[in-house]
Amino acid sequence: MALMEIVTFPDPSLRLKAKPVKKFDKELQTLIDDMFETMRAEPGVGLAAPQIGQSLRLIVIEYAEEPETEDAPQPKPKRYVLVNPEIVQSSEEMVEGMEGCLSVPGLIGKVDRHEALTVKALTRHGKPQKVKADGWMARIIQHELDHLDGILYIDRASEIYEPVPEDETVEITE
Ligand code: NI
Repeated sequence: MALMEIVTFPDPSLRLKAKPVKKFDKELQTLIDDMFETMRAEPGVGLAAPQIGQSLRLIVIEYAEEPETEDAPQPKPKRYVLVNPEIVQSSEEMVEGMEGCLSVPGLIGKVDRHEALTVKALTRHGKPQKVKADGWMARIIQHELDHLDGILYIDRASEIYEPVPEDETVEITE
């Protein structure tokens, strides 16, 4: 496995519409493993292939919800590999939340996202899958899917900030 370099704003490659994945070969499996390794090293909770210079419709996500109470055990992280993902359903309800992005270092912003959604995608081995998500996971998925169409959260943000250290607890870096 290998750590990949993150492409950062304003690199024009972040603005391309990524191409569908067609081959589910060994190379793709290595790329996916490298994306997980790179995302964990940063650390981030999601990564889209264009962020490491691969114009492919592929995202990886690994995110653990906060425990419900302070004493509750930390929930296990949910892990997704979404290949050629498409949103097939999204809630009318929108929610505002703070986002950051590994490709836009040093900033966070307030973004409106659908509260819940259903995504149709392929697995890393090319099998169809359907993912239902709400809350933070739904937000992460929408943020990552945007990367596949050349959209950054700063395009959608109603406000953008340079976080002061105490804000770091709310920072979600994708
Ligand atoms: Ni991002």
